[in-house]
Amino acid sequence: MSQCFYMPVKVIYGPHCVAENAALFAGFGKKALIVTSPSSAKNGALQEVTEALSSQGIAWGVFDRCENNPSLEMTDCLGEFARQDKYDFVIGIGGGSAMDSAKAASVLAVNDYPAAKLFENRFPHAPLPLIEVPTTAGTGSEVTYNAVITIDGGRNKKSFGTPVTHAKLAFLDARYTETLPMRLTRYTALDALAHAIEGFLSCKATPAGSMVAKEVFRIFAKNHGALCGDSLTPAVRQELLLNAMYAGIVIAQERTIAVHSLSYPLTAMRGVQHGLAVSLPMASFLEICYSGAKEKIDELLGILGLTELGQFRGYIGRLMDDKNTYTRAEVEEFVSIAGQGAIGRNNPVTLTLDDVRNIYLTSLALSD
Ligand SMILES: [Fe+2]
Repeated sequence: MSQCFYMPVKVIYGPHCVAENAALFAGFGKKALIVTSPSSAKNGALQEVTEALSSQGIAWGVFDRCENNPSLEMTDCLGEFARQDKYDFVIGIGGGSAMDSAKAASVLAVNDYPAAKLFENRFPHAPLPLIEVPTTAGTGSEVTYNAVITIDGGRNKKSFGTPVTHAKLAFLDARYTETLPMRLTRYTALDALAHAIEGFLSCKATPAGSMVAKEVFRIFAKNHGALCGDSLTPAVRQELLLNAMYAGIVIAQERTIAVHSLSYPLTAMRGVQHGLAVSLPMASFLEICYSGAKEKIDELLGILGLTELGQFRGYIGRLMDDKNTYTRAEVEEFVSIAGQGAIGRNNPVTLTLDDVRNIYLTSLALSD
């Protein structure tokens, strides 16, 4: 059966890459809609992007009210904002939430309908061209076409996107990640690792995607010790930002599998940061999959420098610090919200709802 590798985003990376390539903005039009969160004013990205736009005579409007894990309500506000003026293109600046919101803005600016209709993936008018500037090193949203929105009154998450919601251009400057606290830096690196693991273990994995995934494992392993420490050098931060982009390329080919589905209620209901939420169930998920995916999991462990699966929980555990405890009743709710979605993914083994329950029960600190 034929397979596909598709990565249409032009990626420019390195320190000061926005200023050095300011002329590229001019190819997208005369007015930009910048979609971001308040943090981009602190990390310098917003200022450098607007300076680059000014240098090219490009006007801009700013929506800087992006929230973590964007809700349908916020996305509707963003859509209204985007339609109030005539924008030629959209620039997303921030972590996954802001970059995903920018994807929504690129659609809603030219399609006057409620955000809930995004999930139908029908865009009568082609989305505005999109440029993404990540300020965290985890999501890889700059090279994927999917965007995630919180739904069901804050209980779950759902994604939309088709190849037309891919960005045209991305700028990766790790200087923008330097203000990110180490805790969040670790979580975002874990998110990238999860993207690569899930893509690698997907039963739809392709040779090209797997090649990239193995490079993500290698770079993660190389920097694991540094991530356990108190600070990172600019060179390490740039490598981790590239790694998040590589991991984004993996899920752009293969999609995530059960682990991301399992994370959604943890984030939506308990506010667990996304990278932590995908890492909590990972060791138990690998243990359940081991019988059916031994060769691949052993290859992953080997690249990480581990000799057996039992070491994996401690290996990623050194980067995690979930202080939450969970009741068994909550676990049942997580199973009811995320179970069907998780078992329906392209997992390497067939999962049951009992497996999902066991993954939660063996991954979370229970209070009863
Ligand atoms: Fe993720």
